[in-house]
Amino acid sequence: MERYSYGMVGLGVMGRNLLYNIADNGFSIAGFDLDQEKVKELEEGAASGMKVRGTDTLEDFVSALEVPRKIILMVPAGKPVDAVLGNITPLLTEGDIVIDAGNSYFEDTNRRVADLASKKLHFMGMGVSGGEKGARTGPSIMPGGDPEAFKLLKPMLEAIAAKVDNEACTAYMGKGSAGNYVKMVHNGIEYAIMQLISEAYDLLKRGAGLNNDQLYQVFKEWNSGEMNSFLIEITRDIFTQKDTFTDNYLVDQILDKAGAKGTGKWTSEQAMEIGVSIPTIDIAVTSRILSAYKEERVQASEIYSEKEITKPEHTEQFIKEVGDALFLSTLISYAQGLSLLVKASEEYGFEIPLKDVVKIWRGGCIIRSVLLEKFYSAYTQDPNLSNILLDKEISELVKSKIKALRKIAGYAVANGISSLGIQTALGYFDAYTTKSLPVNLIQAQRDYFGAHTYQRIDREGVFHTSWQSSNN
Ligand code: 6PG
Repeated sequence: MERYSYGMVGLGVMGRNLLYNIADNGFSIAGFDLDQEKVKELEEGAASGMKVRGTDTLEDFVSALEVPRKIILMVPAGKPVDAVLGNITPLLTEGDIVIDAGNSYFEDTNRRVADLASKKLHFMGMGVSGGEKGARTGPSIMPGGDPEAFKLLKPMLEAIAAKVDNEACTAYMGKGSAGNYVKMVHNGIEYAIMQLISEAYDLLKRGAGLNNDQLYQVFKEWNSGEMNSFLIEITRDIFTQKDTFTDNYLVDQILDKAGAKGTGKWTSEQAMEIGVSIPTIDIAVTSRILSAYKEERVQASEIYSEKEITKPEHTEQFIKEVGDALFLSTLISYAQGLSLLVKASEEYGFEIPLKDVVKIWRGGCIIRSVLLEKFYSAYTQDPNLSNILLDKEISELVKSKIKALRKIAGYAVANGISSLGIQTALGYFDAYTTKSLPVNLIQAQRDYFGAHTYQRIDREGVFHTSWQSSNN
């Protein structure tokens, strides 16, 4: 009987596309899904020459694979992963590898690694980014876990991943659940950048009064320079899409309530948990929550009536400044996410190679951008950089844009255009670059009402004072 090199459980769009990508690259692969229709579609859709087989039962699937088996799961995160593992692990044999390619929570992966290890099986968490199209033509792939098991997958992963300068957008992300963690933070940064782009859109639309054709031109221009990125590129194209029900542009017919599947929220929760400041990501999560209060917002807008907007004096200059503000606040969002990875790596012993993270984010994934090239050279020079803002070349870039960020943040505030992402990016930058923050006063207050003690700037030790009450 012919044996297949890889197996894929879950033949939804992502699973099927990833499977075809693997087969396109010359690897044989068997697929399984509880939904037999999907199994049928898989075989029907396979191009001639692909070594692809759909299987009817999990038993058939498992016995069709070479040992050690290398099985990729592309099923929704949470209970479905545990359900598949419950059914499949009794059929596996020592040394087999199960790779979870979904957006699983890293602590779930830790639990599954331990559980499968007790059965002498390997379990790996592997982030995959790039959406449906990326899965088919070349995603960015973030695997973590057992290094020996990773070695067996490496040639296939390098073949199917996106390429930048002939280098594959995949690398080992570290021990345990590092692959899921890196993907989670990728998504947190994705939330922040999307929030910032939406604010730039609002400033150009309501501030400068640009229409969709003009917005298309602006985003096209931005995408052809230092702001070149996947998210700017798709935004450009969104402005050209006409609606099928009306004569309007589709973007204007879409209800302003943003959805979320949860990875952004996990990123914020994690940052709070291990003490890392990522306010632009936090605000992006909470802004989506706030957007859902549509009815209340309508009510409130009637009570408080929207502020009249003063158009910027020089439209061209304003557009340029909005671009610079977006560029810099995006850079600051990456800085926040990457600083979370630095701390998480220490905290959980992941040993995440930051240089490889930014290297493999340059292509295939949702947050790919040419800016990551600069980050790549920064981490190549200093792999232990605690914050990208500390790099010399990056600091020059920041200095060249900060004036525009301040100006645009000021314009938004003065005109009542909500710009939570831009404001927090600037606020983070100002706090991060301030030698003496006013929290000496917070320490004094804490000691005053709760004897929480404080440290001094002029001598070692911990101090408490019996503070003078003016009522005494
Ligand atoms: C990717 C994306 C993807 C994510 C969606 C939805 O890297 O391909 O990050 O993994 O699930 O973008 O995310 P939300 O529904 O939470 O916006």
